Amino acid sequence: IPVDDFDLVIFGGTGDLARRKILPGLFRRFCSGQMPAQSRIIGAARSELSDAAFRRDIKAALEEFLPKDSFSAKEVKAFLDQLHYVRIDATGTEGWGALKKLVRNDKDTIQAFYFSVAPSLFGDLAERLHTNKIAGPGARIVVEKPFGRDLGSAKKLNSTLRDHFDESQIYRIDHYLGKETVQNLMAVRFGNMLFEPLWNAQYVDHVQITVAETVGVGGRGAYYDKSGAMRDMVQNHLMQLLCLIAMEPPSHFDPDAVRDEKLKVIRALDPPKRDDIVRGQYESATDGKGYLEEVESNDSITESFIAMKLAISNWRWAGVPFYLRTGKRMKARTSEISIVFKETPHSIFDKDSGRHRNILSIRLQPNEGITLGVTIKEPGPGGMRLVDVPLDMTFADALGPEAEGVPDAYERLIMDVIRGNQTLFMRGDEVEAAWSWTDPIIEDWTRRGERPKPYDVGTTGPEDAAVLMHREGRRWLDIKA
Ligand code: BG6
Repeated sequence: IPVDDFDLVIFGGTGDLARRKILPGLFRRFCSGQMPAQSRIIGAARSELSDAAFRRDIKAALEEFLPKDSFSAKEVKAFLDQLHYVRIDATGTEGWGALKKLVRNDKDTIQAFYFSVAPSLFGDLAERLHTNKIAGPGARIVVEKPFGRDLGSAKKLNSTLRDHFDESQIYRIDHYLGKETVQNLMAVRFGNMLFEPLWNAQYVDHVQITVAETVGVGGRGAYYDKSGAMRDMVQNHLMQLLCLIAMEPPSHFDPDAVRDEKLKVIRALDPPKRDDIVRGQYESATDGKGYLEEVESNDSITESFIAMKLAISNWRWAGVPFYLRTGKRMKARTSEISIVFKETPHSIFDKDSGRHRNILSIRLQPNEGITLGVTIKEPGPGGMRLVDVPLDMTFADALGPEAEGVPDAYERLIMDVIRGNQTLFMRGDEVEAAWSWTDPIIEDWTRRGERPKPYDVGTTGPEDAAVLMHREGRRWLDIKA
């Protein structure tokens, strides 16, 4: 779908996110014909750069971060021609006049301002866009996580932005919401008759959400050590996945209807008990540094892994545990949600036919797809032996070439900003509700100086995470690449 003419300003336009994700994403959309010829992308940052130097830098970024041979020199040149650069002082006066000259402020042009900078600058940018009369009434503001580090700071950020912009203009990115399968989750739940009647405490035994990474904290130690897995992943990405699984069907697929339902889930979350949480920290191994070496601290008690059992207090989910886990330097990179259904109430087959249950697994990455485990008879003359087989819907197999052109999370989200669709963005009250739930948990660890449990690099996390399941007769599904 083509989009209307727009001017997009990226504050922090020479930064890592802009080079790695935002500009390559925009370029791919440009190649799909979604960037009108008059539209401009304006990088704004502190360094002194000419348009030509900025274009050279972005050309290098495209070459570095996009697959070779996926574009032509002609396409690159045409895209770069739509790029401009303004040197700007976010907290001073320099550059704002030049920016005003470049950005069209009329009713026919969509304006988007991407704040790809430290949150401490959000207020300065918002105020200057306003006082310099650069942003018109329909301007869109895009911000990234971390959106605060607790309820207090998130509230402050929200009110700073709302001093100058309305909630309907603010797009808070959680890139997990831009992933293809995450949206498919809603299509599967609400586009089929098959699942929704079973989607409740009567039929679901438990839900597992795993986001495992093989990377460590690497060069991000300074940021990560102040955050930990709870702030970095659970409060946002895992919480969003949980909401999409647990929410009631919205009446329409529209931004506020969807976000109202997600908010109700967060508000219905019980505070977890202490022994329903396991925190871990990876230890050094022959194939890499341990967490403490990476963050250059001997006594950090920040968690690089967390597993927890959550309860949602409402009619639909009463008594159904939701198990979440996420960690760095684990066995494989995989993000998967599994709905584990209950066993049949009575088995008509021999006892030695074993225990069977249906599992619906939604794989976000890699090999995006959905698998439903069903129980069938093992082929052959051996009598009524039962076996579980997957009904596999790996998107690449099921959809063929159509699955290949799927935009990545940033591409999709940036285009949604331009189209003015907030469905896949977090609303201010959602973010605050998520922090309200997270804060007491973190405060408790801090007060007690709780040390995370060590785990070996390349594993599934500390042993206690397995115990969290075993003690209730359950087990984590395997983490497979
Ligand atoms: C980011 C976190 O939001 O998400 C990182 O800050 C994490 O620590 C990343 O590595 C994971 O994203 P993805 O898309 O690679 O699963």
